[in-house]
Amino acid sequence: MTDLPQTMFAAILKHNGYSGTATGPAIENAADWLEGAEVPTPEPGPGQVLIRLRAASVNPSDLHFIKGEYGQPRVKGSPAGFEGCGDVVAAGKGAEALQGQRVAFVAAGSGAWAEYVVTQMQMCIPLRPDISDDDGAAQIVNPMTAMAMVDMAKADGDAFVVSAATSQLGKLMCSLGRDLGLKPIALVRRAETTGMLKDLGAAEVLVTTDEDVVAKFADLSAQLKPRVFLDAVTDQLSEQLFCAMPNRARWISYGKLSTEAPTLTQTGQLIFMSKRIEGFWLTNWMMSTPPADQMRVVAEVQARFADGRWKTDVSEHLRLKNLVPNLADALKKSDGKVIITP
Ligand SMILES: NC(=O)c1ccc[n+]([C@@H]2O[C@H](COP(=O)([O-])OP(=O)(O)OC[C@H]3O[C@@H](n4cnc5c(N)ncnc54)[C@H](OP(=O)(O)O)[C@@H]3O)[C@@H](O)[C@H]2O)c1
Repeated sequence: MTDLPQTMFAAILKHNGYSGTATGPAIENAADWLEGAEVPTPEPGPGQVLIRLRAASVNPSDLHFIKGEYGQPRVKGSPAGFEGCGDVVAAGKGAEALQGQRVAFVAAGSGAWAEYVVTQMQMCIPLRPDISDDDGAAQIVNPMTAMAMVDMAKADGDAFVVSAATSQLGKLMCSLGRDLGLKPIALVRRAETTGMLKDLGAAEVLVTTDEDVVAKFADLSAQLKPRVFLDAVTDQLSEQLFCAMPNRARWISYGKLSTEAPTLTQTGQLIFMSKRIEGFWLTNWMMSTPPADQMRVVAEVQARFADGRWKTDVSEHLRLKNLVPNLADALKKSDGKVIITP
């Protein structure tokens, strides 16, 4: 650590714990939740590495988290940000194998929106040289979730439903579904995105603002019999679509892009049609999936990015020092990820 700076710049959390609210992943002003500050450079403990940041992504989970609405509590003064890529510049005992490597990582000690990040070595994936830093910064959270969830869909028939299909994750799942010979049924808010999603791999695209969307979905559902609904929106329309799915259908909620709290209107379907409502969280998948299976998924993810089958659409690059004043405006663009660079 001798040649490393004692302090670093980071976007740090202004609040502790949970907020008790459920206002969704939208912000008007990042300064309500974050501030830029010079803080001590973290030191890696046993099994940990120190990473010099190359690029970090901004995911909806980061926004839920900084607002105190995510599945883990905030620690005031800690850098925010879950995911990124960078170079391992110091390693604690047992983590020396990663020294000097460029890795994608999920932050597990000190957040990714900082010049330096500490995390567990198990939360790092060495990157192939043919993967760009932008792709490296979004290599774990969405791609691994896409692989895990499409795998669940594949085990349950050949058509599946994807909401918020224009999201980065939705696009990954539509193209993966097509490549596996499945029929993704994509739900979007904006009609103008229909062609793009069909090109990517959606077999059908329905626009959720269409007043006949439930009837159109019911027709498709009778025809294609999707049994898995991968849902990042989880609102009342989701519930209506779930009710229009066939017996044994599974509504898998993995995101809460809408702030609407859905009401269950046909609980009899859970009893008489064996339908199920479930959640998916990548953190649990990583803790419960054997390392060898995870390594296979990692290799497939990197191969897909390296050969161009998958890519990270980037709407804007923001320098870390400019993040807090500019993040809210940058997030208004709907066509890709905001990527943070040091
Ligand atoms: N559970 C897990 O383990 C896990 C892991 C990864 C991601 N996720 C979740 O997956 C979802 C997508 O993540 P991402 O990084 O791919 O997102 P993203 O690329 O940032 O895209 C989000 C998109 O969703 C659409 N959207 C936003 N609010 C919406 C609403 N109320 N109703 C319908 N659509 C809405 C918007 O597209 P348009 O403007 O085009 O409609 C927006 O661009 C998020 O909910 C995230 O939290 C969960």
